[in-house]
Order: sequence, then structure tokens, then C-alpha cells
Amino acid sequence: MDPASYNGRLNALESEGKVRWSSPSNIALTKYWGKHDNQLPRNPSISFTLSQAKTLSEVAFKPAQRPGEPSVSLFFEGKINEAFGQRIRGFLLKNKEVLPYIDAFDWSIRTENTFPHSSGIASSASAMSCLVMALVDIENQYLGADRSAEDQLKRASYLSRLASGSASRSVYPNCAEWGHCEGIEGSSDLFAIPGEDWLNEAFVGYHDDILIVSAEEKEVSSSLGHQMMATNAYRDIRYRQANENTIELKSVLQSGDLDRFIEITEGEALTLHALMMTSHPSFILMKPNSLEVIERIRNFRKESGVPICFTLDAGPNVHILYPDRFADVCRSFITSELQQFGSQLIEDHMGAGPERLEA
Ligand code: DP6
Repeated sequence: MDPASYNGRLNALESEGKVRWSSPSNIALTKYWGKHDNQLPRNPSISFTLSQAKTLSEVAFKPAQRPGEPSVSLFFEGKINEAFGQRIRGFLLKNKEVLPYIDAFDWSIRTENTFPHSSGIASSASAMSCLVMALVDIENQYLGADRSAEDQLKRASYLSRLASGSASRSVYPNCAEWGHCEGIEGSSDLFAIPGEDWLNEAFVGYHDDILIVSAEEKEVSSSLGHQMMATNAYRDIRYRQANENTIELKSVLQSGDLDRFIEITEGEALTLHALMMTSHPSFILMKPNSLEVIERIRNFRKESGVPICFTLDAGPNVHILYPDRFADVCRSFITSELQQFGSQLIEDHMGAGPERLEA
């Protein structure tokens, strides 16, 4: 099925209804950084789906009072949120071609996150994938769409990508890949594909403890960072490298080679930040404490032989990654050596993806 073509029968335009979903954030191992046209990535990426950091959303709809001019109200944690509402409205209205029923209804969206306020954690992946899972469910329950479970996820990933690139990966359990990549069958720039079946036992239940080093609003948004790649002197070599890393990471996830996993993952995180530092104008999102934590993780790994490593998103917070069988030793290292450099620690791990909740 072409996920772009909505095949519902739009046979229930008089109806109203409500669905509730939860959807998690994800952490990229190979990084999406650079996009073109309508939310197409310049390079492929692979991520682990998380479980604790997630968004819960209720999406209610009823026939539009003024058909053709749908109203979209967005409540974040119980209060109208204009800025977030604008972004959602923009996404829905810009993509009417693939959401042809949007105009027929008025929409009320209530959303909240499980992670703390102003933790600096990017919430677009969980928020956008959550909204989209709800829409795809509405298409199924109320608008006569008839899709297999697999096609539903493919459509959800396609639509999530249009809202926020990284959100395309959050719809799948445990692991996902997004972006066309020569060595990866079925990979596409249009939607992510599941990577769960690739996972060697060594990666099952992998941990990602997120140390909040700074919760201040970022100086440069991801969207702007992506745009700035267009003029980055290193972009071509970077896109080539990201392809190679993604292909190799897939086979590392299959073989369970933790040493290579660590080299690729840390290399990708540092490259992402190096790209920021070499943009025009340049910008730095790491803080001194990010570097302190990175150094301590590397020293501890060298001394103890424990396969703990780090990655970074487009921000100063450090994601601390380790296998489940080393959970005890890593937890005590994090508590005694790292926690002092952050304001909060969110203990997360791989998770099962979006979930439908009782409306
Ligand atoms: C550094 O998905 O937030 O986290 O498509 O503009 O919404 P938009 O960008 P976004 O970018 C995420 C960038 C990243 C790397 C990644 O998640 O792959």
C-alpha cells in the first residue's frame, strides 16, 4: 500500500469520537541531521525506542461548525498552549492531501508528557507520533480505513515523519531505521521500518539513563540545525559516513559486538556536535558538565571493562547507554560519579512503542 494515499471511505463524516494513545521518545544512535524538501532526511538513522519518556494524548473530533475551516485546540497539561497548537495546526493543514478528512471536523487535542517539565528533553518525537497514532486509529475506527497492523504502522510512521523526522522512528517497538540506505532492504526516506528483529540478545532491554545537564531552552532549534547543514563544508562526507555507520550499526546490532557499538554510537554523537561547531554561524550546545560526564564515562569504561557509553541529542544532556546485564554496576557508577553533574536523572530503557489507552 502506498502510505501516502488515504484509502478510508470517509463514510462517517457525521460522527464524533475520541481516542487516547501513548507514544514514547526514541534515542538516535546514528543521527538524522540535515533534511530537504518535505521532511526528507539527508542520511539514514537508527534509534532505540524508549519507554519511560513518553507523551499521552487524547484526540477528540466532531463535525466542523464551519466545514472547510476546522478548529484545532491544543491543551498541554490541561492548559491551552498556543505555540504548540500552531505547530500541530500547521502540520494538519499543510498535509490535507494525505489527511483529507481534517477539514470535516473540529479537533480537540489534550496532551501531556511523563517526563518532567522543562527537562530539556526533545518531546517532538513522542508528541507527534502520539498524535498520529491517534489519527490513524480514528481512520480505522470511524472513517472506514481497512489496513493491516503492519500498514497502520507504516502509515503512522509516514505521517509522523511529516510532523517531525525523528517521530517516524517512535512508532516501532525497541528499534527502528529511517532513511533510504543501500544495504538495508525496505529502507525508505518516506517512513521508518522496524529494526526489532535485528537485535542480538546483548541489546535486548538496553538502558538509556538521561542525565539532565541543563534544562534551559536551546539556543538553536533542531529545525534550524537541519537547515544549516545545507551550507556546512563537511556535509557530503558526513552524509556518506552516516550511511556507512548505519549499515555497520545494523550488523553490529545483529552480531552483538558491543565494542563497535560503542565506537559508532559515541562517534555519531560527537560528529553531530562537531557539525554544529562547524556550521555558519557556528553554535555549541554542549556544556562543560556534558564533557565532564563524557570523560568520566570513558574513564570508568577503561578501568572497569564495563560496556557503558554515551550519546547526545541536539542538546547538552547526556544519554548513558548500557546493557541490561550490567544494570547494577552502571547504576551505582551513575549515582556516585555522574548524578552530581545534572539536575535530574531519567532512568529509561528500550520499550514496546505506542500503546492504545482506554478513551
Ligand atoms: C539530533 O526530528 O527534532 O535528535 O524533523 O525538524 O522535527 P525535525 O527534527 P527532529 O531532529 C532530531 C535530530 C536529532 C537526531 C535524531 O533524532 O536522529
